[in-house]
Amino acid sequence: VPLAPFTDLLAAARRAGSAVAAFSVYDAESLVGVLRAAAGRPLIVLISSQVVAEPGGDLVVAGMLAMAERAPSPVALQLDHARDLDVIAAGCELGLGAVMADGSGLPYDENVAFVLAARALAAPRGIAVEAELGHLAGEEEVALAVDPGPLTDPAAAERFARETGADCLAVAIGNVHGIYRGAPHLDLEHLRAIAARVAVPLSLHGGSGLAASAVAGAVAGGMTKVNFNTELRQAYLARTADELPGARDGARLLALHRAQADAVAAVAAERFAVLSA
Ligand code: 13P
Repeated sequence: VPLAPFTDLLAAARRAGSAVAAFSVYDAESLVGVLRAAAGRPLIVLISSQVVAEPGGDLVVAGMLAMAERAPSPVALQLDHARDLDVIAAGCELGLGAVMADGSGLPYDENVAFVLAARALAAPRGIAVEAELGHLAGEEEVALAVDPGPLTDPAAAERFARETGADCLAVAIGNVHGIYRGAPHLDLEHLRAIAARVAVPLSLHGGSGLAASAVAGAVAGGMTKVNFNTELRQAYLARTADELPGARDGARLLALHRAQADAVAAVAAERFAVLSA
């Protein structure tokens, strides 16, 4: 199946009153896991900007693109959380269908300027751009326990979406990247206020650790994309630790890779069940 346009996946999910599941992957094992769990359902594959920056990162991304094209699912690949234009340019050059231009740590005007500059690189190649307003607490690659920061202001979100022309907007409604220090609480009232004012699809980052009911509530409240990362990494690493002693006996690398893909697939399958319900 040819890769699917990012904006088409979001538009179809929105028409259906659902959301697209977006999963971070780091290697062939985690990508095989999420593609197996998808079983033909649409999804977005998130590729960390740090993967691209690793030695050989361009080769890894090329392999992921080829794998996604072989999958029975409509898939879009997105560069996640790029904070400088060189990384955005690299993501566009690699052939990804979408980039996230994350200027959420910048003052409002600089965030707008950053997204506009990213769009100038991406749009001529038909590459979609996601932006973020309202910086999320937590890190993307290291799971730390954090409390949520301030929520995205609905009026500012309306203005930001209009001024940037972003295709998708990530907002803060009590969500965090990594581990929720306390019990997670998404402010769905606040989400509805944002959704009423922003025309483009909204995305929920920090899906890990949210109960199925919280994810379903966020989708009903207007989220059209939900990102999951930490819980996949945790499952992958926990299973690796369990399997490693047996795998070392006989150097059974393939068995270890199968277990890693299985662990990721099990977590992703649960999230697909919620988002396609
Ligand atoms: P979690 O790691 O908290 O699931 O967040 C994922 C994410 O938002 C990736 O952009």
